[in-house]
Amino acid sequence: EGVDVDALRDLARRLATEAGEHVRTNGPERVEVAATKSTAVDPVTQMDRTVEELLRSRIATARPDDAILGEEGDDVPGSSGLTWVLDPIDGTVNYLYGIAAYAVSVAVVAGPVDPERWTPLAGCVHAVVDGSTWTAARGRGAERDGRALRANVPADLATSLVGTGFGYAAERRAEQGRVLARVLPRVRDVRRIGSAAIDLCRVADGSLDLYYERGLNPWDQAAGALVAVEAGAFVGGLRGRGPGVEMTVAGAEPVVRDLVALLEECDADGADDGVRS
Ligand code: IPD
Repeated sequence: EGVDVDALRDLARRLATEAGEHVRTNGPERVEVAATKSTAVDPVTQMDRTVEELLRSRIATARPDDAILGEEGDDVPGSSGLTWVLDPIDGTVNYLYGIAAYAVSVAVVAGPVDPERWTPLAGCVHAVVDGSTWTAARGRGAERDGRALRANVPADLATSLVGTGFGYAAERRAEQGRVLARVLPRVRDVRRIGSAAIDLCRVADGSLDLYYERGLNPWDQAAGALVAVEAGAFVGGLRGRGPGVEMTVAGAEPVVRDLVALLEECDADGADDGVRS
């Protein structure tokens, strides 16, 4: 194919760490909401916008033929067949409240811009506050701060620590609460960390056993999903589908299958109710 995935990973790492440094050193005393997006509880801060601009300008210089898909701006078309998928701050609500779990997520994918169909090539998730940096390149494994990662292989669902997250729309949340009520009695415990990118990386490094969430955008999951896959985890959807807006489930085989089965049983992707994302 002639694509140097190591070079792409190194670039993703440079971009994400530079962006993280920017957030660390230029943060205002008190973070304010600049605007709201999908609903009144879905915030954007000035920092989300500034950091995305920074990432976009670096990519335009380093890789002018690549396309860009970012959370906070217009899609940039490209001619190379590669697309950079950017989340300047994944975990914006944590950033807003000064809760440490937020990250810059930078991925590069080949093929159609659709998490169910694209091929992730490289990615980096950089946790801004503690500087933890997870990277992966396709077929090359995943690392956290230079240490190779292997997802935890849980003994069973009942002793698994499961991460999840919630969308920003009230109806979706009511649904997610219904599913959570089915999952919680079946597992060790549940964490809502507040950054899908970090959740997926935690599955990769064994600091969560399993993760699921409905309604993720491509930028929330592009880099983290590759990190989890390269650490040996399954990342997919329900009913044999790939990870996408309807559901993303991550974790090591075989126990991840039990979570998939449970989520299918609760219709956690809404396949039976006709209410699609
Ligand atoms: C959100 C976070 C959160 C997840 C939401 C995402 P944002 O991303 O990843 O953990 O539950 O679904 O939208 O808005 O902070 O970039």
